[in-house]
Amino acid sequence: MRHQSLIPLSHDHHHGLALALRCRKQALGQLRPMGTRGLQERAREVQSFVETDLKPHFQAEEEALFPLMRSLVPESQQILEALLKEHVQIRESVARLEEDPSLGKLLFDLGDLLERHIRKEERELFPLFESRATPAQAEKLKAEIEKILAVRHRK
Ligand SMILES: [Fe+2]
Ligand SMILES: [Fe+2]
Repeated sequence: MRHQSLIPLSHDHHHGLALALRCRKQALGQLRPMGTRGLQERAREVQSFVETDLKPHFQAEEEALFPLMRSLVPESQQILEALLKEHVQIRESVARLEEDPSLGKLLFDLGDLLERHIRKEERELFPLFESRATPAQAEKLKAEIEKILAVRHRK
């Protein structure tokens, strides 16, 4: 069972995994409409997911969860560095959706990266948090994450 404090992030992960799969299927020509039109539709779907969901999600991880992990679990340093590097890579790939001539490859690679990133957080980072955080720390994190994600409801 996912800890309550992490449920909003896990909820985003669920959507992210579904989108990652659609990106790869689109790139492989397994989703209609095929060809450039379908690829552009997927690219727009990614951009809107990033604007409304992923930006605040990354912010909640980078400003709340990761700093807490760093102080709570010193040995998580390596995985946190890898995750932060992936955030940069994901942001760079998304920025390239506008002009990249090989949209199919870009969407495939982005879907692959997004999925690997989410699985790393769900399978490695979150269990590490759940095994070390005290109820008070988890409660505090829950409030911080909710505060950052609240920006979604103000739109
Ligand atoms: Fe992340
Ligand atoms: Fe995440």
